[in-house]
Amino acid sequence: MNSSHSILRVGLAGLGTVGGGVWHRLATQSDLIKQRIGAEIRVVQVADKRMDRARELGVPEKIVADDWRKLTANSDLDVIIELIGGTKQAFELIKEALQSGKHVVTANKALLAERGAELFATAQKHQRHLLFEASVAGGIPIIRALREGLVANRIISIHGIINGTCNYILTRMNEAGLEFKEALAEAKREGYAEADESLDVDGHDTAHKAAVLAALAYGFWIPPEKLHTEGIRTVEKQDILYARKLGYGLKLLAIIKTDKESAVEVRVHPTLVPESHVLASVSGVFNAVLVRGDVVGDTLYYGRGAGGDPTASAVISDLAQIAAHFPQEQKARNVGHESLQSRLKSMDEIVSRYYLRLLVLDRPGVLAEVARVLATRQIGISSVIQPEAHAGETTPLVLMLHDAPESQLQAAVREISQISAVKAPPVHLRVEDFD
Ligand code: HSE
Repeated sequence: MNSSHSILRVGLAGLGTVGGGVWHRLATQSDLIKQRIGAEIRVVQVADKRMDRARELGVPEKIVADDWRKLTANSDLDVIIELIGGTKQAFELIKEALQSGKHVVTANKALLAERGAELFATAQKHQRHLLFEASVAGGIPIIRALREGLVANRIISIHGIINGTCNYILTRMNEAGLEFKEALAEAKREGYAEADESLDVDGHDTAHKAAVLAALAYGFWIPPEKLHTEGIRTVEKQDILYARKLGYGLKLLAIIKTDKESAVEVRVHPTLVPESHVLASVSGVFNAVLVRGDVVGDTLYYGRGAGGDPTASAVISDLAQIAAHFPQEQKARNVGHESLQSRLKSMDEIVSRYYLRLLVLDRPGVLAEVARVLATRQIGISSVIQPEAHAGETTPLVLMLHDAPESQLQAAVREISQISAVKAPPVHLRVEDFD
């Protein structure tokens, strides 16, 4: 930082939706920010290959470079904001920036989830800050809440609706009775889904964000292949309708929890949430994160998880943090390096309640056969729905099950699928009660 003038000199790499939002909001809010933190945040160089995009945003041509390497090579910069996305070039950019003595602000959850350990070690080595408020839940200050506001707490659990596109799709399936494909098409028309829709609907974006939250809460980076990830592509309208009849909403949740033995579970999957619970009422593109700390109890964070302005709000908060609260000599904070006595639970070990939907032939004894399989594995039934059917026809049979270990449930589902009267692969969804 240029201390004589109190100017934080920033390089901005990437002028996409978020980069454009950062440029615009730094311009419109600069006086307010200066008043609040006593320093000016000034973008002195921008990198983007698209000069027309720079012109459209009103970025002076003389500060635009066509290659991010010109930013890392610029010794006048204090901070680089990485908003180019992807994991290859972005990794090189961040590493070079830290090595050349610059702080870094990024929104890149995919990169942090894949290579966070390495990048934070580099930041630590060079004593530079690597901040990432915008990487999870866009404009919601959840990273700062976990690192600062809740620092006195052992985190017991985090439940997050952290992909706006999936929440929009599930909301439209519920409210407008759309099938998944119709709701996805609508989300695309509204400009919500990522260019690669799989990142959203197959749960990967949620998993990346869950890995970042878990690293903050429990001090270790979970290898992406070990993070159980299911998306919403196979969710059917009828499951949303049955869930509603049973008093539940269906949400794509990131679930991060620890038990008394410090075993940690991290999973992403569609989940039945009681309709009376506040997370069930989070609709459309909104995100929400519920954090339970052992000292504070439950805290809830709600807001927009994507888009230029909300994400710019988070990026600028990181810049302000660097400008106002972090003298350069202050020790940079690492993430995911703690040697807590934690271990990651395998999916087989988790315990949950379940929703199970079968398509069965309506003949005497079918329900008894299904119940017998469940009973031999000590899985109790708490509720049953079967629409009235005619003998000899197929009909859905929906069961709500009591707590069971995942391994037992999976084994029961395999056995049930072998029953001759079961005419389609069983569908099972996990239920979260938040107790
Ligand atoms: N595509 C994400 C979402 C936003 O729909 O929430 C970026 O993480």
